[in-house]
Amino acid sequence: MIQSIKLKYLLTLTAALALGANLAVADDTPLGKEMSSMNKSLRALKKQVADPAKKDDSLALVAKMKKNLEESVKFDPAKTKDQPAAGKDAYLANYKEQMQALGKSIDELEAAIKADKPEDAKKVFEKLSEQKEKGHKDFAPDE
Ligand code: HEM
Repeated sequence: MIQSIKLKYLLTLTAALALGANLAVADDTPLGKEMSSMNKSLRALKKQVADPAKKDDSLALVAKMKKNLEESVKFDPAKTKDQPAAGKDAYLANYKEQMQALGKSIDELEAAIKADKPEDAKKVFEKLSEQKEKGHKDFAPDE
């Protein structure tokens, strides 16, 4: 009996610690915060982009993503500090370039929503996913 209570306690503690560790990673950096916010907007947009009644709300979400992006460009990825000094400039230039490309896609998303073209918006979602994947492969810490 006591053994099983101990075990339960241990399991709860382990779960709490694991959760705590996850929370510590999430939103850990100012850049991470902007990214999380962008992610939330994008998830909402994917659900509602074809809904004409939500057009204004969708455009507001896109505007929020643009703000997040503007902020994101101001920060250096946390991994910048691990780059060899000689490669740092190129690393950051590449980061800014990929961010700019992301900004272009967000503009395209906005244009598609404004023009009531959800099919075009869905194509941009695919592009955004690819840009996110590449950006994270090149700049984000391993999960
Ligand atoms: C639609 C596109 C994108 C979405 C939705 C997205 C979303 C996210 C999310 C959810 C995180 C984890 C944040 C956290 O909780 O800590 C993250 C982290 C990160 N992302 Fe993105 N991301 C996108 C595109 C990009 C691109 C294009 C780049 C690079 C050019 C990038 C670079 C990073 C970096 C460097 C981190 C780690 C934070 C840090 O180093 O401080 N992301 N992103």
